[in-house]
Amino acid sequence: DQSHLAYSVGITLDRFIKLKQSDFPFASGELSQLLRDIALAAKIVNRETNRAGLANIGGAFGQTNVQGEEQQKLDVIANIRFMRALSKGGEVCAIVSEEEDAVVDLQNNSGKYVVAIDPLDGSSNIDVNISIGTIFSIYRRKSPIGSPILLEDIMQPGSEQVAAGYVLYGSSTMLVYTTGFGVNGFTYENSLGEFFLSHPDIQAPKSGTIYSINEGLQLEWEKGIADFVQSCKEMKMQSRYIGSLVADFHRNLLKGGIYLYPSTLKNPSGKLRLMYEANALAFIIEQAGGKASEGKQRILDIQPKNLHQRTPLIIGSVELVEQVERMMNPME
Ligand code: AHG
Ligand code: MN
Ligand code: MN
Ligand code: MN
Repeated sequence: DQSHLAYSVGITLDRFIKLKQSDFPFASGELSQLLRDIALAAKIVNRETNRAGLANIGGAFGQTNVQGEEQQKLDVIANIRFMRALSKGGEVCAIVSEEEDAVVDLQNNSGKYVVAIDPLDGSSNIDVNISIGTIFSIYRRKSPIGSPILLEDIMQPGSEQVAAGYVLYGSSTMLVYTTGFGVNGFTYENSLGEFFLSHPDIQAPKSGTIYSINEGLQLEWEKGIADFVQSCKEMKMQSRYIGSLVADFHRNLLKGGIYLYPSTLKNPSGKLRLMYEANALAFIIEQAGGKASEGKQRILDIQPKNLHQRTPLIIGSVELVEQVERMMNPME
């Protein structure tokens, strides 16, 4: 039994994934292979990200995506890299991506898994050398293997995720993921081309002193959100907002704090997307002992209706998220 090794800092991601396969008694190794495919694509995107300023791959691509956002060149490059990794691997039957209008049916009826992905998160930060990320969710298909995919394979609530993770292309590049047995973080060693376990069994602090919200939208918030942010100021908490969800989330996960992207007058469902932004981070925060809410409801319980639907997101240390919920629902 080598399971004790799984938590030794310094072990490679590949070896860790292999050791952790015993968490799934009847696993065939396909999920493990899928995680390795994602890690490989992440290494490639990391390389592109690092040299974006030199390789003329910064700036706008010249098209908008289905949400009407201006695509950056790296949005498109990252999407291509992850699409390739996920379609060549053979484990996946369908992909939902921020940069694809519709479900990508890989016509691979033997693929067991559905992946939802934000290939490049925080893309408005690329050209100014600020941390960006990738977010992914993995689901097991509901329909029998060997048959064409169905809508119910795609539209699964976050509670059905079998794995989720993110990559942070930051001052160092990290991959953080969960398969429902805790959260582990790996740091990329450039010269060796490997991710190594650096943050075993991450636990979110129960409370914290950081709050993260785009305060430029204050005049559009509902009262409960405004009251909460006011209370943060009265308590002299630290305001930190990068504008890259992955980076803001990662900092608060490690240090303790709360991230809010609430509904606004202009966007009643907020900005962030349920299927490839909120769900993965909600699964991770719960696995780390934190909480993710849309105000009333647990993020992971939301039944998706549209691929690109948005949701308000309140996520982080459990005590802070619960305080916001109380302030948003004073009568209950
Ligand atoms: P993406 O770059 O994948 O489209 O995501 C952008 C998101 C997220 O990364 C970030 O936290 C948020 O947009 C910032 O929004 P505001 O500029 O409205 O604060
Ligand atoms: Mn975008
Ligand atoms: Mn994003
Ligand atoms: Mn994106």
